[in-house]
Formats: sequence, C-alpha cells, structure tokens
Amino acid sequence: MRITMIGTGYVGLVSGACFSDFGHDVTCVDKDAGKITALENGKMPIFEPGLADLVERNVAGGRLRFTTDLAAGVAGAEAIFIAVGTPSRRGDGHADLSHVFAATREIAAALTGPAAVITKSTVPVGTGDEVERIIREAAPAAKAWVVSNPEFLREGAAIEDFKRPDRIVLGTEDPDAAEIMREIYRPLYLNRAPLLFTSRRSAELIKYAANAFLATKITFINEIADLCEAVGSDVQDVARGIGLDQRIGPKFLHAGPGYGGSCFPKDTLALLKTAEDAGSPLRIVEAVAKVNDARKRAMGRKVIQAAGGDVRGKKIALLGLTFKPNTDDMRDAPSLSIVQALQDAGAIVHAYDPEGVEQARPMLRDVVFAEDPYAASDGAHAVVLVTEWDVLRALDLKRIASHMADPLFVDLRNVYPPEDVAEAGLHWVGIGRTNRLART
Ligand SMILES: NC(=O)c1ccc[n+]([C@@H]2O[C@H](COP(=O)([O-])OP(=O)(O)OC[C@H]3O[C@@H](n4cnc5c(N)ncnc54)[C@H](O)[C@@H]3O)[C@@H](O)[C@H]2O)c1
Repeated sequence: MRITMIGTGYVGLVSGACFSDFGHDVTCVDKDAGKITALENGKMPIFEPGLADLVERNVAGGRLRFTTDLAAGVAGAEAIFIAVGTPSRRGDGHADLSHVFAATREIAAALTGPAAVITKSTVPVGTGDEVERIIREAAPAAKAWVVSNPEFLREGAAIEDFKRPDRIVLGTEDPDAAEIMREIYRPLYLNRAPLLFTSRRSAELIKYAANAFLATKITFINEIADLCEAVGSDVQDVARGIGLDQRIGPKFLHAGPGYGGSCFPKDTLALLKTAEDAGSPLRIVEAVAKVNDARKRAMGRKVIQAAGGDVRGKKIALLGLTFKPNTDDMRDAPSLSIVQALQDAGAIVHAYDPEGVEQARPMLRDVVFAEDPYAASDGAHAVVLVTEWDVLRALDLKRIASHMADPLFVDLRNVYPPEDVAEAGLHWVGIGRTNRLART
C-alpha cells in the first residue's frame, strides 16, 4: 500500500516508520525543511528510543522517504494520513485546527486518484465532516474517503505502542474505506490487535474520552496523595491496595507532580470546549483540569516549604525536566511551573535532564543547565527529583549529600525509599507519604 504521512512529528514519524516496517511504501511529508533535511541525513529531529534504527532500516530498504513537497508526496498515494499538530488555540482552549485544515486543502489540490484521507491528529468531533467538506469543495471530482484513526501511542514507548496497540480505532462506515484501513493494519491484525470500527464521530470522541479518563485517574491519585499526607497514610500502599482491584487496575496510579505533555492538558481543555458547545458540560473533567493546573505550581511551594519557607538566593537543583522519561518533549511539563514558582520566590535554579535540554533551554529563562546530576546538585540547598529517568533512579545519594549546602531531597516521583535517602544523610520529602523516620 502506498501511504503518505502529512506531518513528521512525534506521531507522524513513528507511524510512518512503523508502517514502512510492516512493508508498506511510505512517504513522510513535513513543511519544516530543517526536520526533513535532518531526516535525510539520518538525524532524528526528536528523541524516541529505537526510532533512529527503525528509520535507518526502512530508508535503506527503500520503503521510507522524506520530502517537503506535499503534492509530490500525495500523488499516487492510496492512503494519506494527517498527523499535524492540534495545539490549544491561543486564548480559548479550543483545539487549533488551522494546521489540519491547511493540510487538507493542500491534499485536496494534490489528489491524483482514489484515496483514503485519514485524520490521525487528535481532532474534535465533527472535524472529519469539515475535512470532507473541504475536499469535496476543492476537488469535486476526486474520490476520497475521510476516515478518523486516532493515535494512542505514548512518547517514550511509541514504537512498541504502535506495533502492539491495545486497539486500533477506525471511524468509517464506508465499506471501501474500511477495506483500505484493514489492508493498512493487516500486519497488526495478525498480531490480534482488535480493529474497532465505529462512526467517524465516535472515533473522534474515543480519543478525547480516553485521554480525559487517564488524566482523571492521575489527578484522582494525586488528590488522594495530598489526603495521605494530611492524615498520615501512604499513597504507595493506597494505590497498590486499590490497583489490585481488577475493576480499577494498577496503571496511572502513581502520585506525582501533575500530568503534563503534549496531549493531556490540551486534549482535556479541547474536550471541555466541545462539551460546552454541545450544551453537555463535563464537570468531572473541568475539575481535573483545574486541580492539575494548580498542582504543578503547588509543587514549587512544596519545595519552598520543605526548604524552610525561604529560598531567596538559594540554589535549587531540579533533576529531570521533560514531562516524563524517555522523551525530549517539554510541552506543558510540570517542571516549567515548578521552575517558575521557585524563581518567583528568588531561588537560583540549576537543572539536569538527559535529553530535554535543547527543548527546555528556550522555555526556561535564567536556569543553569548542568552536565550531570552531581554537577547540578553541587552546593544546592535542595535537590528535587522531577522526572524519573532511569539514570536518575540509582543516584549516588551519599555523593550528592556530601556536596550539598543543605541536605534536602524532594522526591516528586516517590522513586527512592525514604530509608535509603535518610541513610545517605539527606532529609527526605516525598509525595503522599509521611516521613516515617521523622516520626520515630
Ligand atoms: N505526541 C504524542 O504523544 C501524541 C499521541 C497521540 C496523538 N497525538 C496527536 O497527534 C498530532 C500530532 O502530534 P505530534 O506530537 O506528532 O505533533 P508535532 O508538533 O511533533 O508534529 C507535527 C508536525 O506537523 C508538521 N506540519 C504542520 N502543518 C503541516 C502541513 N500543512 N504540511 C506538512 N507538515 C505540517 C509540523 O511541521 C510538525 O513537524 C496531534 O493532534 C496530537 O494531539 C500526539
């Protein structure tokens, strides 16, 4: 199958590379010439484990290529995926669909034969109808099926997620379009990944409902963590105790500094706007978005409080900046709010991140970036573990304690047992867990 991917970001590049690995013939298009040049030179524009090898193998096999020329990419394609960004629209939180519609217009002008036009971008209910309208208007003679195929991959585990998905959601009620989609995903179907065919509008909503549900689960355990601190319980035990219930499940029950990233914050907001416009408000999701927003900055206050209430002129070291490990994505990362809160209180922030510094640098003013966690923590009045990268899971805590100005270790991911932190000579503060050592 000849496939064209419009947008070669986190989703487009991973999806395109994986489709080519299944044996399809894939052209990835992006209007960002820098990205395409980098890819043509074998350089990955994003950090995603395993991606460089996957791309190299399929380019070498002649199944994967890159271009900025959308018309050339679309000519002759049987399936054209739209995987461009849908960020929050500035000012009102609706999904900004300008990239989707611009790409649609360009596709319509370039269509040469019958093709499925598939939205993989996360788009509000009804966007497929508008994509279809634009194509009909711009290219009335073209045979095009507009399908919704939302993507559920997680950055950091994107290839594995794409190749072994829990489900593939396909929004189309047209038998010809369904046949094309079956053919595209046939290699996965043999792996027994369920193909779920729904109406286009249901498929569009499934993506938002899934993200809102996961954001709710995270926010729920975060609020329970606060309650644990207030009443002397341990959120690790509570999460395990409820997660073993199969109706609840253990995933997404890790208390932390709040969800971030390129999806949950903007998708919950966009869903709220859809619900508001439809006159069917989602009050639970409204609360989730509000609680999560407040939480990120509250984490800064937590650090300040642990440091005795005053951090003016003090060095605070943040370990891990990206919104989660194994990605360089800094979009809406909790670290951004934490840094702001600390700087507002007069702290001098130093930071270390294994992959995120290039993206973090323009977003974080006056932060000193360190080469490793030990350089970051040297002379610090507090070390704050923000993102649980593997390289930050086995720190030499004694070494850190030996060169800090004040031995305060704030673990916002509950990675380290309090006993180990105390044994290293550090004062421990975690999330949703009272300091048992301090109590005895
Ligand atoms: N990142 C994730 O983990 C994830 C997961 C599931 C779904 N999604 C959704 O997938 C979509 C893409 O997300 P992303 O993180 O890959 O975004 P991204 O910003 O990393 O990539 C989007 C790319 O599209 C390109 N682009 C924009 N307009 C274009 C046009 N007209 N022609 C060609 N290229 C164009 C941009 O230059 C950019 O490289 C979003 O709707 C997002 O919500 C993302």
